[in-house]
Amino acid sequence: MRKVVFNITVSLDGFVAGPNDGPDNGLGDGGDALFNWYFSGDTEVKISEGTPMLKVSRQSAKVMKEAFETCGAGVWGRRTFDIAHAWGGHPPITPSFIVTHVSQEWVYEGSPFTFVTDGVESAIRQAQEAAGDKNVVVCTASILQQCLNAGLMDEIYIDVAPILLGKRVRLFDHLNTEPIQLERIHVIAAPGVTHFGFRVVK
Ligand SMILES: NC(=O)c1ccc[n+]([C@@H]2O[C@H](COP(=O)([O-])OP(=O)(O)OC[C@H]3O[C@@H](n4cnc5c(N)ncnc54)[C@H](OP(=O)(O)O)[C@@H]3O)[C@@H](O)[C@H]2O)c1
Repeated sequence: MRKVVFNITVSLDGFVAGPNDGPDNGLGDGGDALFNWYFSGDTEVKISEGTPMLKVSRQSAKVMKEAFETCGAGVWGRRTFDIAHAWGGHPPITPSFIVTHVSQEWVYEGSPFTFVTDGVESAIRQAQEAAGDKNVVVCTASILQQCLNAGLMDEIYIDVAPILLGKRVRLFDHLNTEPIQLERIHVIAAPGVTHFGFRVVK
């Protein structure tokens, strides 16, 4: 059955980007180290035209393959879209739904992007319609937080990188709910990263 899942790489102290993140410093000061595991293995993984060829460990390649095979649409916040320079028009997941207050220029026939200006619930609903039987993957912190607050999230997949970033974009900020119980799906200790999967208990 199709699910709403979250997937991101985070520092051990819970940050998805370090200080001074922005279009010229995507993951912030020191943040590139979050993705060392993307380039330190021997198994090639190509995510999309807009992303470089990755070389990950065999264990991580298996985790990524499973995630991408079940993925039908992505949902992102506008900051990541801007910081990633719209992935040059080739987002890691197609179609991609961008939650924003302002619609903008990447709207054209055949565009992989849909701009959603009426909130996260609408973005998830539109992404589910596009994804059919496959999962909707939420890929940014602010959207995860809103999905958790709205009870929309089914599973959380977090790749923990062995670094402490200290400050800036915190993954689990602004939660405004009763405590959320999770069930562990897996823990996979791969070289340079530990993959965690959790099911949200509803
Ligand atoms: N470590 C990783 O794997 C990873 C992955 C992705 C991103 N990142 C990093 O994470 C940081 C960005 O994440 P973030 O959580 O700060 O921001 P984000 O989710 O990418 O974007 C937040 C923005 O989305 C728009 N937005 C969010 N909710 C909205 C709503 N309900 N209605 C209308 N607009 C809404 C707003 O932009 P507007 O008001 O301008 O429209 C808001 O400022 C960047 O540093 C990026 O590099 C890291």
